[in-house]
Amino acid sequence: MSKTFAVIGDPIDHSLSPNIHSAAFRELNLDCSYIAYRIPKGELKDGIEGLKKIKIDGFNVTIPHKVEMMKYLDKMDESCSLIGAVNTVTNDHGVLKGYNTDMDGFLDPFNKKKLRINEKKILLLGAGGAARAIVAAFAKKNAKQITIANRTLEKANNLAQFSKTIGLDANGIDISNVDKLEGYDIIVNATSIGLKNESSPISLDSIKPNTIVYDIVYMPMNTDFLKTAKEKGATIIYGYEMLLGQAVRAFEIWHGVEAPYNAMKKALLGGV
Ligand SMILES: NC(=O)c1ccc[n+]([C@@H]2O[C@H](COP(=O)([O-])OP(=O)(O)OC[C@H]3O[C@@H](n4cnc5c(N)ncnc54)[C@H](OP(=O)(O)O)[C@@H]3O)[C@@H](O)[C@H]2O)c1
Repeated sequence: MSKTFAVIGDPIDHSLSPNIHSAAFRELNLDCSYIAYRIPKGELKDGIEGLKKIKIDGFNVTIPHKVEMMKYLDKMDESCSLIGAVNTVTNDHGVLKGYNTDMDGFLDPFNKKKLRINEKKILLLGAGGAARAIVAAFAKKNAKQITIANRTLEKANNLAQFSKTIGLDANGIDISNVDKLEGYDIIVNATSIGLKNESSPISLDSIKPNTIVYDIVYMPMNTDFLKTAKEKGATIIYGYEMLLGQAVRAFEIWHGVEAPYNAMKKALLGGV
């Protein structure tokens, strides 16, 4: 029987998820479809009712619903309860179960490239929703220490507090106070700076060679942050790698078979 999946959010027309999942359906000859469905802020409850009525098989959740969606779940995977946000939902005869695949999606490029995280010192730029999943990922992989730098210091401090509760040595600072970078092994941009082609959120002049520099902004693919890091000899990880990682994990939750990574990657890079 044909199955239907969706991504919900607002705005949603720019979403690359329909391309990625449709490519996987074609590759594996699955009788499935995947649509982008706009649900404005404040209309989530009705939107979810509508999806249940059409017997949606599963859906992804993006901005602005990742946290509010928690209220409408019947069950929760531990990734979801730990992070406090949901990006993937299964629908088993009206029973909605939530997962957060951003954490494993973030870790996917480290696993693929065999890059170690344990005992490493981290600088994380940003303290929004994505940063929270990233902190959980670093805790899972036993990072040594994490400094969280954000424009709003209070949010950096709150996230540092959360990091401590899950076992990380952490501190929060104002992003404008980031200066010497020699002490960090991994630097991640989880702010939205770069989306509008802005220049790098911090100066990368003082990074040591072979620092891992990861930008989770995926559009444009080559942000100024990553271009500068590359010039400095850093090992870089693109935002699309995380996007692909979270989609692969969601696919495997829904379909119970290995996702066709290369077909999904081709669809994504062709669409950027
Ligand atoms: N690759 C992927 O799979 C993936 C997954 C999730 C998200 N993302 C991307 O990650 C980015 C963040 O997403 P999110 O969900 O965490 O968003 P969010 O919750 O809205 O957080 C945005 C973050 O960016 C900071 N920020 C925004 N504008 C800034 C500016 N002009 N100067 C300094 N800091 C600024 C905010 O600082 P304040 O706290 O001071 O406002 C906050 O830390 C987005 O670009 C999103 O597309 C990528």
